[in-house]
Amino acid sequence: MANSERTIYFTGFMASGKSRIGRAVSERLNRTFVDTDSVIVERAHKSISDIFASEGESAFRKMELDLIREISEDPSPKVVALGGGTLTQSQIVSLIRKTGIIIRLWAVPEVLNERIGRKNTRPLLAGLAPEDRLAKIKTMLAEREPRYALADFSVESSNDFTEEHVVSEVLRNLKFWESRAVFVEPSCGSHYPIFIGHNLIPRISSLLYGLRLAPSNSFLICTDTNVASAQGRNLALLKKEAGDSPVFKFHAGEIFKNLSSLNQLYTFMLRRHYSRKSCLLQLSGGVVGDMAGFAAATYQRGISFVQIPTTLLAMVDSSVGGKVAVNHPEGKNMIGAFYQPRAVVCDLDVLSTLPPVEFLAGLAEVVKYGVIYDEEFFLYLEANVQRILSRDSEVLAYIVRRSCEIKAEVVGIDEKEMGLRAILNYGHTFGHAIEKLNHYEFSHGIGVSLGMRVAARLAALTGRITKEEELRQKALLDAFGFPQTVSVDVDKAWEAMGIDKKVEKNMRVYILPVKIGVVEKAASVDESLVRKAWEAVLPGGIE
Ligand SMILES: NC(=O)c1ccc[n+]([C@@H]2O[C@H](COP(=O)([O-])OP(=O)(O)OC[C@H]3O[C@@H](n4cnc5c(N)ncnc54)[C@H](O)[C@@H]3O)[C@@H](O)[C@H]2O)c1
Repeated sequence: MANSERTIYFTGFMASGKSRIGRAVSERLNRTFVDTDSVIVERAHKSISDIFASEGESAFRKMELDLIREISEDPSPKVVALGGGTLTQSQIVSLIRKTGIIIRLWAVPEVLNERIGRKNTRPLLAGLAPEDRLAKIKTMLAEREPRYALADFSVESSNDFTEEHVVSEVLRNLKFWESRAVFVEPSCGSHYPIFIGHNLIPRISSLLYGLRLAPSNSFLICTDTNVASAQGRNLALLKKEAGDSPVFKFHAGEIFKNLSSLNQLYTFMLRRHYSRKSCLLQLSGGVVGDMAGFAAATYQRGISFVQIPTTLLAMVDSSVGGKVAVNHPEGKNMIGAFYQPRAVVCDLDVLSTLPPVEFLAGLAEVVKYGVIYDEEFFLYLEANVQRILSRDSEVLAYIVRRSCEIKAEVVGIDEKEMGLRAILNYGHTFGHAIEKLNHYEFSHGIGVSLGMRVAARLAALTGRITKEEELRQKALLDAFGFPQTVSVDVDKAWEAMGIDKKVEKNMRVYILPVKIGVVEKAASVDESLVRKAWEAVLPGGIE
């Protein structure tokens, strides 16, 4: 749903300016304005204080819920000022999420206290002396903070800013939010948006400040040496947008994805006195994304971070889902965490400098989504091979979006890989072994593409799919130009696969297709068949 079709809901503490700013925004957008408190008062023929006094707070909350239901069912988008405590009701939040965008207005408690004191008629604070009122405001703000944090973005409405300034900040943020394509709601983590579009980096400051991330001097950009030179212009723009933030450059390449590189980043941050309120912006592919994410997860027990992926693979896969890690000599991604970013910004323009082999690596994950989850998407890929390879902007936007949607859906059900998420590992068990045995000379995606060939062969050998289905996947991979063979010692591969994270309770499990668009978890697969499946990629059969 486009922003232009979404109702805009203003939330925030009482006296944060919801009605005043909301009305001004509605005039600018030529939409009907609704102040929920006023409508309730009008309908009940009583002031809010009287409703609280005569019918109790729960009756008032029920009136709010009924009204929001009515608004969210109305197809014409509006601008709505919510009551101070409306978002304490989770039913209301779910209703709003479907068709709306939530903007939080905020001001510091002292400003709120001064504004509230002018009338002193708010039911929850009426009659209190200024200092008691301030203390109560602080307590209520702390209590309601988790609910206000549900807002898509925040805008400050302090006394220092004119109404015009606050309104234009709201509109500037809304413009950026037009590129929100996917909303990730992990099963146990916090939610975050994925933005997909063109020319997003040069406008990213409205997002960063709208998310109320770090003050400008405590952003840190992480990138790698290749991206820094290939994407120098975007890096400079990002630096400017993030208040001239420092840049930390990792050496490019999977071999540097380790604790030693990470330690250099920690040292860099500590020496520059980055605090818990800092925010890490990662502008790079999956290698730096995973490392910077793990740094964000662990630096001073966790700081916020934003993924700005620059490879196709990072856009469609590694930036979404919150897995962050570094490699250990004993295995890939063995040291890590689940840690969600605050936002993912896929500016498709950065892909213009991505080398073809890296683009291909990302396509492996895209093909994977078709095989594991969505046959229609697989068909789309089959029908658009040339447009994809020529990086047609419309097709790119669609494949990035659909891939992120699928990943978000899977992660939304199973963030910590207790069940469904394991399907994302299709091709990975074999792929990781290929990567490891080739000393990470292959990029991850190419390893996965080869791994998918082996997995599909195993599925055919175990009678899960037909030979035709295996060939259909092979034909698509071939059409994209993926390598068809790799030199692997099957004994070593068998051993390498044994340490993979996908090994459960000493039992090797494989994600295998049962048809295009559906996979299942297979345990107790005969070792001889697994070994034989490697023939799918070995130059002359088993080596
Ligand atoms: N966290 C997850 O859920 C997850 C999922 C999949 C993969 N991964 C990890 O992702 C990593 C692979 O990511 P990747 O394929 O993005 O590799 P990468 O980060 O190494 O990027 C590939 C290469 O392209 C360069 N590059 C990146 N963007 C560029 C651009 N726009 N222009 C020019 N050059 C550019 C990089 O410097 C690098 O040399 C692996 O470490 C893998 O384990 C993680």
